[in-house]
Amino acid sequence: MTAPSSSFSSTSSAFEIFPLDQWMGDSPAVKRPKEFTHFSYDDEHAYHPDERSMRWYYPAKLGTDLSKGFEKFDKHDDGGDEHLDSLLRSIALHEEKEGKRIDAEVVTWRGMMTKIMASPFEDRDGFEMNATLYQGCIFIEENHEYKMASRLEESARPWRNPIPREKMAFWGYKFETLSTMPATWGLTSREYIEGRDEHVVSNKAQYCSIVRTGVGKPILCLGGEVDAIWDSRPMFAGEPINWVELKTSAEIRPGNDRDMQNFERKLLKYWIQSFLLGVPKIMVGFRSKRGILTGIEEIQTATIPATAQRPGSKAGWDGNVCINFAAGFMEWLQRTINDDGVWRIRRRAGEQRIEVSRVEATGHGRILSDEFINWRIKL
Ligand code: A3P
Ligand code: MG
Ligand code: MG
Repeated sequence: MTAPSSSFSSTSSAFEIFPLDQWMGDSPAVKRPKEFTHFSYDDEHAYHPDERSMRWYYPAKLGTDLSKGFEKFDKHDDGGDEHLDSLLRSIALHEEKEGKRIDAEVVTWRGMMTKIMASPFEDRDGFEMNATLYQGCIFIEENHEYKMASRLEESARPWRNPIPREKMAFWGYKFETLSTMPATWGLTSREYIEGRDEHVVSNKAQYCSIVRTGVGKPILCLGGEVDAIWDSRPMFAGEPINWVELKTSAEIRPGNDRDMQNFERKLLKYWIQSFLLGVPKIMVGFRSKRGILTGIEEIQTATIPATAQRPGSKAGWDGNVCINFAAGFMEWLQRTINDDGVWRIRRRAGEQRIEVSRVEATGHGRILSDEFINWRIKL
């Protein structure tokens, strides 16, 4: 008697990351990401199927102290597991409008895809994700317990920097507050622009873009936060949008190779994050050791991989390898996650492979919301 196909199998498979030579060379065609829907979280982190939290870029003043307002930081408590809920809600609303299912074969947050794509050059932190196959599509969420445990571990690690970790994280959000406005320049008052240093910094509000894209054969649907827009949305749906990603980074002391190398290494994550959602421009706010904004540099996302490859660069990463690796991995994942239940995708820190195993034989864990399943049953 043969076992039914849904029988539980605890075997795990692994996808080898190394040797990296196998991923070198020109990348296969990657689809240009196209936004097909979006949503916002408001100041209370409540969901809205609209663009109310979209922000416009307007440069910050140099010399500003990024620590100012730290005591009043209105911080989002991300201790709760948000799963894929907002992404699924937006997909369902879009499908309702279109009268049909989206054609994605993988649905996840951009952050998960960033971790996968950075794997060949980033082995310091591991990752864990949960995945489930439903109606021919793999849905992938972050494993929240793992994320919380890693955070706890990190905060227990010795910290030699005189600036507390929390304050350094605040600098990033402060830079966003200093660099954006709630409407175009013409529609924003001078008082607002000049008063930005006094505004309470909050990370509860967000604008999330949801795109259709592809790395390798599978069609992906990715959702992720975008920080700002440069001008305005294009007239026609699907045309590239001039999104702006905001980042802060330690200033590079002239002639200091180590500073340069650190920055070039960071560009790997900047590039992947922006590439996946089709964000063409990154504004980097450089800050002193004490958190004073000392410079702003505009970087075109598309030019980053070439900078990492130029002679003399110590960046130590290759964009083609990231793309080819991710393409190979996603195609393998599609062959591997081929049955019911909940699957775990895991990379342990320092290990050379990504493991996939089935951890529950049936159901979808909490990856899919009831709301989404009920919607799909109806469709
Ligand atoms: P910086 O990137 O300027 O450091 P994002 O750049 O993705 O829009 O994130 C905005 C800010 O959130 C970051 O600004 C940083 O302050 C904070 N942040 C993001 N991921 C973080 C992490 N893993 N740990 C601590 N802070 C983080
Ligand atoms: Mg952001
Ligand atoms: Mg940012």
